[in-house]
Amino acid sequence: MKLIYAKDYDSMSAIAATLIANEVYTNPTCVLGLATGSTPVGTYKELIRMHKNNDLDFSKVNTVNLDEYKGLTKDNDQSYAYFMYENLFKHVNIDMEKTNIPNGLNEDIEDECNRYEAVIDSLGGVDIQLLGIGQNGHIGFNEPDKVFVSKTHAIELTQNTIEANARFFNSIDEVPTVAYTMGNRQIMNAKTVVLVANGANKAQAIYDLVAGDANPMSPASILQFHQNAYIICDEAALSLVAQKAPELLK
Ligand code: F6R
Repeated sequence: MKLIYAKDYDSMSAIAATLIANEVYTNPTCVLGLATGSTPVGTYKELIRMHKNNDLDFSKVNTVNLDEYKGLTKDNDQSYAYFMYENLFKHVNIDMEKTNIPNGLNEDIEDECNRYEAVIDSLGGVDIQLLGIGQNGHIGFNEPDKVFVSKTHAIELTQNTIEANARFFNSIDEVPTVAYTMGNRQIMNAKTVVLVANGANKAQAIYDLVAGDANPMSPASILQFHQNAYIICDEAALSLVAQKAPELLK
């Protein structure tokens, strides 16, 4: 695991986008694992800029997203399918047939989880996985739990996550309470992991990730065992590490 200091949000986004772009340049048919939420928006903007200015070519790339709310249609503006279209896909030359997101409308949880796991396996797994991190340490929607859950699963979102995500909805009552998420198996099998975090509200989660005990109650801590994970944080997200474990920043 490599902890990387970025001076601000833009520089965090530029570093993450550069790692992803390098993968696409060197392996044009790669499988990109993608995340939603507010943190990766700058990374996507930078990738779009590279596509427009530097001919970064997405035409052969496959994508698999981490998660989707259960019950939202693709054209619901809060669905992650909609988010990906608006924030990346419609701006680059990606083949929409090569993009994959859990189907939030599949009521049959077992069927959807097996289908999505098989889709990722059929692509040969993820080459580079972009992650954000929840204030409670979740990655994808792998919430704090008694165990690290391995496969794609449906999860009841924690109150903390529902409250954190309410900012995207008209009211907290509209936030779906269940989501499909990739499990730790595909995340840990990704050849490279790039986690981005900014802001003081992520400081505890980042401290637990890099300096705490690996523990499913702090889900991102599993990345301590990943051989090629980049944890890219701005100064505020690193503030607790700087205070309590400064040796990790050297
Ligand atoms: C989204 C996802 C989540 C977010 C996390 C942080 O696909 O998997 O784990 O990365 O909730 O969200 P933001 O970036 O909005 O703080």
